[in-house]
Amino acid sequence: MRQADSPLARIRAGTDALHQALDHESVMQHLMAPDLDRGRYAAVLQRLHACYTALEPPLQGYRASLLQPPAWFDSRYYQRSGELARDLKALGHAPGAARDAARSDGLAPRHLSEAVGAIYVLAGASLGARIIERQLRAQLKVGPELLHFFGERTSPDLPRWPELRRALDAALAEPAHEALALGMARRVYAHFLHHLGPPL
Ligand code: HEM
Repeated sequence: MRQADSPLARIRAGTDALHQALDHESVMQHLMAPDLDRGRYAAVLQRLHACYTALEPPLQGYRASLLQPPAWFDSRYYQRSGELARDLKALGHAPGAARDAARSDGLAPRHLSEAVGAIYVLAGASLGARIIERQLRAQLKVGPELLHFFGERTSPDLPRWPELRRALDAALAEPAHEALALGMARRVYAHFLHHLGPPL
């Protein structure tokens, strides 16, 4: 199967506008702006922390219900609030103030294909993070102590993006499964936009 014809390629096309909105019309923009300072960096991390705090339990709950979770359903793709909390602490902020705003409607997978959609978005977020990391290092002169979330995540047993894509594509052989994955991918993006869309 050519990559352009694959289920994930179609899911990418079906979520492109949502990715564009996150990239260009959310608080993430501050991370790429020339006037970024540590206060704004912390404010964006707080938003992300609230976002992940709400995402993690439904995904973890579904994973725990599976007798044999597939290798691609690795909690390191979505259990990220700890890294955000470490960066916030290093910046002198306590995470958690925004926890009350957490909502997780529609984020609990009911089918493995929905988990594929969620993992696609959450693992894909690390691709943009590489660009953001470069900006944070250049603009704020931060080192690894402030880059637990955005820093490069090297782990020999965590598949690289092309390998992960192949595994997720293979899990979406049925058209009905692709539709479920697309629905969840859109809900996860909408969840990010809910938390990251309102201006600081
Ligand atoms: C300022 C914020 C962001 C920037 C600048 C950005 C940038 C990028 C870039 C350049 C790529 C392509 C990388 C490549 O093909 O090697 C990418 C891919 C991706 N990003 Fe983002 N991103 C941002 C935020 C996010 C967020 C918050 C999410 C998820 C909630 C996300 C989800 C994805 C996904 C799923 C892909 C893979 C698309 C595909 O090829 O199928 N991004 N991003």
